[in-house]
Amino acid sequence: MSVRIPLSAPDITEAEIAAVTAVLRTSRLSLGPELAAFESELAAYHGVEDAVVVSSGTAALHLALLTLGIGAGDEVIVPSFAFVAVANTVLQAGAQPVFAEIDPLTLNLDPAAVERAIGPRTRAIIVVHTFGVPAEMDALCELARKHRLALIEDACEAIGARFNGRRAGSFGDLAVLGFYPNKQMTTGEGGAVLARDPAYAARLRRLRNQGRDADADWLDHAEPGYNYRLAELACALGRVQLRRIDELLARRREAAERYNTLLDGIRGLERPPLALARREISWFVYVVRLPEGVDRSRVQATLAENGIASGRYFAPIHQQPAWRARGGAEHLPLTESIARRTLALPFFNRVTDEQQQEVAAALRTAIARAM
Ligand SMILES: Cc1ncc(COP(=O)(O)O)c(C=O)c1O
Repeated sequence: MSVRIPLSAPDITEAEIAAVTAVLRTSRLSLGPELAAFESELAAYHGVEDAVVVSSGTAALHLALLTLGIGAGDEVIVPSFAFVAVANTVLQAGAQPVFAEIDPLTLNLDPAAVERAIGPRTRAIIVVHTFGVPAEMDALCELARKHRLALIEDACEAIGARFNGRRAGSFGDLAVLGFYPNKQMTTGEGGAVLARDPAYAARLRRLRNQGRDADADWLDHAEPGYNYRLAELACALGRVQLRRIDELLARRREAAERYNTLLDGIRGLERPPLALARREISWFVYVVRLPEGVDRSRVQATLAENGIASGRYFAPIHQQPAWRARGGAEHLPLTESIARRTLALPFFNRVTDEQQQEVAAALRTAIARAM
C-alpha cells in the first residue's frame, strides 16, 4: 500500500510561496539581501553575535570543525545515537570521531561517559540536542572548560528549545542548525552556523564561498574553500518560516501531547517525556520505545500495510556497515539496546486528530501482533 500518512511534511503557506516568488522576480538569486537578512534574524532569535547560512546542516558541521582548527591527529567526541553526519564530518575534517554513551532519558550525550572518553588527542565535543531535547549543558560546558575542549552544539533538531531559559545553540563555541524539510522549519535544503566570535564568523563566510574574503574579487581566494552557499530563494523561504516559528513549534507540541494521550495504556510502550526539568523541548520527531521483545520490523510492516510511515530513529552510527568496515570495535550497550526499540511515528505540523487516532490504533494492533 502506498503511504497515506507520511513520517514528516513541511508546513508551507501562501506567505512562503509569495516570498520565494518575489525573489524570482529579481535578478539576485545568490549572495543577496535575503541571505543577509536571514542571517541577522537567525542571530537575533538565538541571542548570538552572528549566523552564517550554508547549504545544509552537514555543511554547517563541516565548516564548524574546520573553523575551530580541528584536523589530522585530533579526536572529537560524538554520540553514536545520532544522524550520521556528526561522525562523517569529523572524518572529512581529517579527525577521528570517538563515540560516547547517552543518557537513557534525554537520549543525549551522558557527561560522565564523555569524561571517560576524553584522551590526550581529544580536541572537541559535538553535543547533539537529540529529537529537540536539550542536552545537559551545565555539565558539558563545564567539562569542555575543564579539559580545554571546543564545544560544538548540533541544534539541527532543536531550533527554539531552551536549557535553563537559554536557547539551544547559544552555548557552544559554535552551533549548527539544519533546515531539511523534515525539520521544525525548512529552507528545502539548508543550514547555519551560529557564532559568538566575529573572527569565527568571518572564517565561516570565507570557507563557505570558495575561500574568498568578504570584500575580495570573485577570483581571489585567500584559502581553499567550498561552495556551501544557500540560494536567495531558500533564504526567503527560511525567513518566513522563522517568522512563524512560535506557531510551528506550538503545533508540534500539541501533536506530541495528543499522541501521548492516545498511546496511554499500551503495556511496555514508552512514550517520550512531555516535560523535563530545566528544559523546553522543541518537538522534532515523536519517537516511542516499543515494549521489550516486540519485533520492530513486524510492527513497521503492519503500519506500512495500513499506509502509515514509520522510522528507526536512530540506527547507531558505529553499527553502520560503513563504520564497522573502519574497524571500530566500540560496544555501546545502552545506545544499542535503546536503538533496537525506537520507532518514530508520523509527526508534522498539520497532522490531524484523525490521522493520529488512526496511527495509535494501528500501532496497538501492530504491537499485539508482533509480541
Ligand atoms: C543532528 C543532526 N545533525 C546534522 C544533520 C544534517 O543536516 P542536513 O541533512 O541538513 O545535512 C541532521 C539532519 O538531517 C541532524 O538531525
